[in-house]
Amino acid sequence: MNWQTLPKTELHLHLEGAAPPAFIQELAVEQGVELNGVFDAFGKYQWTDFAEFLDCYTRACTVLNSPDAFRRLAEAVLRQSAEHGVIYTEIFISPDFCGGGDPVAWQEYLAALDEGADAVPEVECRWIATAIRHLGPAKAIRDARITADSVGGRLTGFGMGGEERYLTAADFAPAFAIAGEAGLGLTSHAGEVVGPESVRDTLDHLGVTRIGHGVRSIEDTDLVSRLVAEGITLEVNPGSNIALSVYDDWADHSVARLRDAGVKVTLSTDDPPYFHTTMTHEYEMMNRVFGWTRADFDAANRLAMEAAFCDDATRTRLMTQF
Ligand code: HPA
Ligand code: ZN
Repeated sequence: MNWQTLPKTELHLHLEGAAPPAFIQELAVEQGVELNGVFDAFGKYQWTDFAEFLDCYTRACTVLNSPDAFRRLAEAVLRQSAEHGVIYTEIFISPDFCGGGDPVAWQEYLAALDEGADAVPEVECRWIATAIRHLGPAKAIRDARITADSVGGRLTGFGMGGEERYLTAADFAPAFAIAGEAGLGLTSHAGEVVGPESVRDTLDHLGVTRIGHGVRSIEDTDLVSRLVAEGITLEVNPGSNIALSVYDDWADHSVARLRDAGVKVTLSTDDPPYFHTTMTHEYEMMNRVFGWTRADFDAANRLAMEAAFCDDATRTRLMTQF
């Protein structure tokens, strides 16, 4: 089976986190800045744990400081997706990186992102505007407001990433309420570096239909039953979880156990160059370690399209690919 050309969906991909190191390095050279400590001797992103990963990511993002840089990035990332057979993707972007929360600048960044996406029509793309948890609830509310004011076109979702150990989900409920009222699809990272209580809090307070990661839900059987009963879709990123040592190795990963329990499980890469993965690699590993066949991948992709933050015409059209 040629896993690379198999049609795929991806619901969990951070635009900045998908930037190849060479792309970030090129911007740094253009701007005449030194990105000390971001790259190792081989030009790869350098970090050792989750906190360092977030720090490396933030520092790399300092050269993503214009709409044109984001236009180029969106185009490069979507070409990468197309190369790995992705036909539908949802990409996390953030008002914090795109204009620092200024509503006028945000519009310019959004237009540039759409221009980048227009250049790769073979991938159907939606944006999920994303609050950064460790920047706090006030910035999350500001992000939700400017997202709510610009909902439409490819901008169909609101989410939250960042340091999961910072505050509790309830602290971010006002931001998610604003986004939900605006009709945006809602998802949040939880159950990645924090255990089941983080997923439970997120379901209790944020009104999400999807959870980014959620893999540590397996540690609580009642929570697993709740995910099934409520039809919550997990955006699982196995390679990311291995790289960040959530699991020691692939065979230990909870993805198969969650699916066996009836949880809706989908596959994504999160931040591929940081975690040395691609969609093709994720599929190869799921096949090798858990014996997933084309039928299993197609089923996961249908679940992804059902949970996608897109219009029904797009959903119906793309569903026929799986
Ligand atoms: N987890 C939390 N925040 C993030 C991630 C992640 O994997 N990637 C980019 N921001
Ligand atoms: Zn993520």
